[in-house]
This record gives sequence, C-alpha cells and structure tokens, in this order.
Amino acid sequence: MSTCEVLCVVGARPNFMKIAPIMAAFAAYPVRARLVHTGQHYDAAMSDSFFEQLEIPRPHVNLEVGSASHAVQTAEIMRAFEPVLDAESPRAVLVVGDVNSTIACALVAAKKGVPVIHVEAGLRSFDRRMPEEINRVLTDQLSELLFTTERGALDNLRREGIAPERVHFVGNVMIDTLRRNLPRAVPVEQTLGHRPQQGYAVLTLHRPSNVDEPDTLAVLLDTVARIAARLPVIFPIHPRTRAAAERFGLADRLERPGIRLLPPQGYLEMLGLVREATLVLTDSGGLQEETTALGVPCITLRENTERPITLTEGTNTLTGPDPEKILQCFDDILTSGGKRGRIPEYWDGRAAERIATIVRGWLDS
Ligand code: UD1
Repeated sequence: MSTCEVLCVVGARPNFMKIAPIMAAFAAYPVRARLVHTGQHYDAAMSDSFFEQLEIPRPHVNLEVGSASHAVQTAEIMRAFEPVLDAESPRAVLVVGDVNSTIACALVAAKKGVPVIHVEAGLRSFDRRMPEEINRVLTDQLSELLFTTERGALDNLRREGIAPERVHFVGNVMIDTLRRNLPRAVPVEQTLGHRPQQGYAVLTLHRPSNVDEPDTLAVLLDTVARIAARLPVIFPIHPRTRAAAERFGLADRLERPGIRLLPPQGYLEMLGLVREATLVLTDSGGLQEETTALGVPCITLRENTERPITLTEGTNTLTGPDPEKILQCFDDILTSGGKRGRIPEYWDGRAAERIATIVRGWLDS
C-alpha cells in the first residue's frame, strides 16, 4: 500500500496560507498526506518565511522550477512533477488556488488517471486575459472533487458542465489560517518602527495587467502619490513590481512623500498591518477576502473580481486603475468609513476540517 494517500501541491505565495490548515486537518484526521513544493516562488521572503510562521510541514520534495515564461514554467513543473507522482503513487493529488503550479500538477495527475482534488474551485473573473482565469477553468475541468469558498461558485461550475455531486461548499481555508493566526499577528509598531498616528493605507500591486504596462503603472503610482499626500501608504512591494518600475524608469515614483516601501512581508507581519489599516488598496485575490474577514475597507485596483462575495457581502469595492474612481472611493472611506460588510457563510475557521472529513469519506468509499 502506498504510504501517501493524498499528494498535496504548493508553489507560489498565495498557496501557502491555503495548504497550512489542510495539512494540519489531514494530520489530525488522519489522511496520510505528503507535500510537494514546485519552487515557483523561492525567495526566503516569498516562501520559507511562510513555512516557518504557519508551521507547514517541510515539503517532501522541492521541484525547484523557479521563474520563467508561463509556458516554460508550467512545462518545467509538469516534467519535474511526473516522476514524483510515479514514485508516490497516491490515491489523489490535491491542488489549491489558481497559480501555474496548480494547473501544471493537476494536468499531470489527470493524464495519469490520478484523481485531482481542487481547493478554491469555481471562482471566475470571466476575464481570460488573466492567466489565473485560464488556470481556474482548466483545473476545475480536470478535478474529481471540487471544494468551493462561496455558494455562487457552484453556478459557475454547473454552467461549465461539471456534475454538482462533485462540488462541496466548505468555506475558505485562507480564512482558517487568518483566524488561527490573528493572536500571533505582529504589531504594527514592530514592523514599521512606529505607529502612524492618523492611520494608514496598505498597498499591494503585482498583477500583470497593472504592472507590466508602463502607462498603467505610471498612472497607478501617481494616484498612490495623491493618496499618500493625505494618508501614509505602506507598500510591501512584490519583486515583479519593483523590477517593472525599474525597467520602465518609474523607480523614482516609488519614493514619493508619504509612501513607505517595504520588502515582501511575512504572513504575520502582513496580518498585523492589514488588521489595523484604515483601508487597503490591492490587486491581490487573497487580500480582497482577508479584508472582508477583518472588516477593513478594500479598494480593488481591478475591473473585475473572481470573488464576488467580497463585493456583495464584504468590504470590497472595484475601481480598476481609474484615478478618479480610486480617489472617489478613497474619499468615501475617509469620510464615511466605507462598506461595513459581514462575514460570509462558512468563513468560520473550519473549512479545512470539512475538507478532511469529505476526503476521508471519499478515500474510504
Ligand atoms: C504568481 C501567481 C499569481 C499570484 C502571485 C503571488 C501565476 C500565473 N501567478 O504571480 O496568481 O497572485 O504569484 O505572488 O502563477 N520572483 C522573485 N522571487 C520569487 C518569485 C518570483 O523575485 O520567489 C519574481 C521573478 O522576477 C518572477 C516574477 O517575480 O519572474 C513573477 O513570478 P511568477 O511566479 O511568474 O508570478 P507572480 O507574478 O509572482
């Protein structure tokens, strides 16, 4: 009998907070699981620090694929994952989220007849220019068991012909991690060296649609400077964004008054910053959900979101990269405090437990 029932995959930063509670729930249940890290993200600040802070078991193997074009990165992951899958011969492969590691490993497993379990299934931005949207649609098509974070995801999956019996609404594993770690969040004054008296905004920016095109990035950075003139902006900058700003000759726009640049932050540092922020400006998927869970107003610098519950029930507002819309929303938040929001159904810290129960039952059936 194989020692590993479920081979779990992570690769990039947003995967780590999702896998942490799943590995813990599998260990408790038990489901015999092993973890593969593709190495899509490899910097200490983008990867190792999350394993330490979230007490994720050391990966059984690291494929060390690193950065490359989408085609090369996806292909390298597939090539390196296949022999690992052969050696482990698990009953299933579990993937999370929507990054290149997710689709690459799902595709290898499905072609070998190994059932795929997808956590965070059914989210759709309906924008195929987004690489993650392609990863989502394809991963869901390949999956045997699909776990969703919001009820509307089932409608998206049904529309794509996926049998509803395969889909289980379990809630949000990322919010499991958030709830578990709130008491350990690093205080703001420790991260910044002081506590900004009049409040502050947190900014993150890394989507290709915002940072890979010089005009869009320039307009966004100018808008941020206008905000920073009124409220300090804390900006932990993604390596991709820093590289783009330097390449386009825009690096000086990162240094404007009121903007505090930080390197990529650890999970507990980021949680501390976001929890106490006046507002968050972001193009990240995860932060839209985390701000909703924390009741912090969020301005999403995108035209669409695959996480609509953060708009209908949460604290999120979409502005795209349009300066007028961003500044209007910023004003509304300063004057009225922004959307109040409520915590979505099943974002209760127990999603991973539900997943472990269903996976155990499925393995035993
Ligand atoms: C990936 C995910 C995205 C997720 C984001 C979080 C895909 C398609 N995209 O985008 O959904 O929101 O991670 O960060 O999988 N780099 C480093 N150090 C690292 C990793 C990356 O410096 O540890 C730099 C490299 O210059 C690299 C660039 O960041 O070329 C982009 O990395 P990549 O993994 O291709 O995509 P992300 O933009 O991080």
